[in-house]
Amino acid sequence: MKVANNLLRPQYLKYKDEYLKKVEEVLDSGWYVLGNEVKAFEEEFATYNNVKYCVGVANGLDALILAFEALNLEEGDEVIAPANTYIASIMGFTRNGLVPKFVEPDEFYNLDISKIEEAIGPKTKAICVVHLYGQIANMEEIMRIAKKHNLYVVEDCAQSHGASLHGKKCGTWGDVGCFSFYPTKNLGGFGDGGAIITNNKDFEEEIRMMRNYGSKKTYYFEKVGFNSRLDELQAGLLRVKLKYLDELTEERRKDAERFIKEINNPKILLPAYQFNREGHVFHLFVIQVEDRDDFMKYCEEREIGLKIHYPQPPHLSDAYRYLGYKENDFPITENQANHIVSLPMYNGMTKEEVDYIIGEMNKY
Ligand SMILES: Cc1ncc(COP(=O)(O)O)c(C=O)c1O
Repeated sequence: MKVANNLLRPQYLKYKDEYLKKVEEVLDSGWYVLGNEVKAFEEEFATYNNVKYCVGVANGLDALILAFEALNLEEGDEVIAPANTYIASIMGFTRNGLVPKFVEPDEFYNLDISKIEEAIGPKTKAICVVHLYGQIANMEEIMRIAKKHNLYVVEDCAQSHGASLHGKKCGTWGDVGCFSFYPTKNLGGFGDGGAIITNNKDFEEEIRMMRNYGSKKTYYFEKVGFNSRLDELQAGLLRVKLKYLDELTEERRKDAERFIKEINNPKILLPAYQFNREGHVFHLFVIQVEDRDDFMKYCEEREIGLKIHYPQPPHLSDAYRYLGYKENDFPITENQANHIVSLPMYNGMTKEEVDYIIGEMNKY
């Protein structure tokens, strides 16, 4: 049996009629940028997250760039960030002239809270939290540390739409929450898209202005801004999908829970819930194996699609060579990068596919 690592078509087909109706509605409206769909999506996504404001932007990286821009920090100020994240989390603040202070992950692939304080120095002004692979980080503890050291907190929720801790959703614990609606994301659109959420009126106003050339009033410009807008079509389609997000998340959790319960192989290290079910939305299902090349060959022969999220940590990338890091500076991160691998995980996986993966994992 052939199982792809990810397929986008099944979830599209599930709601196809509604999506196509929405496309027709938006095209018929004759209004394609910053209109009623974006406004309605912003309201609905804010309500979904139980937060005051949402601003739609062009993608997840822009959400991060605009969020850090709104904090108005000084060039050279430092930001605590996970060493093992997707590189966009880091680009979001280095694009604003800020400097990463990397912190190693815990066994849940999120910031190890016992290592945050030792990375804080006099120039540290913010923490960039990433809820990696869909699991919410230990926000209670992170907020306690942030308060103690007077740091801003920006949450990168690109992989964690809907994950919550004690009933409080990711993106609402810190100052600003940043989302990506890239098609593969749990709330994925049909092209690029992103948003920020916040309870802070000043940040909301600044980001809303900056996404639109630094303009509040048409053709009057207060700052040198960006063009980073969510378009009407994406917003309309995201409104359709948002209605089903909890249902889609539940489907992912059920598949993930079958993997966790039924894969019993000492050669495979499975992911785990740090808190409870609500804390993990399983954007990705990441395992660790000792001999990854051997495991990947085994899966290739059995046509099980795998991916590595991510093979090279940001501090070892050419993009961040200028920071001067070298191999072994973050051994936990680097060790994980050499052993992690993502099993198939997407909405619309069939029971037969899940059965097949479990069977082959147990035979490995
Ligand atoms: C953790 C994380 N942050 C940021 C991004 C950037 O989002 P986008 O691709 O929409 O720019 C992504 C995904 O691509 C991501 O996985």
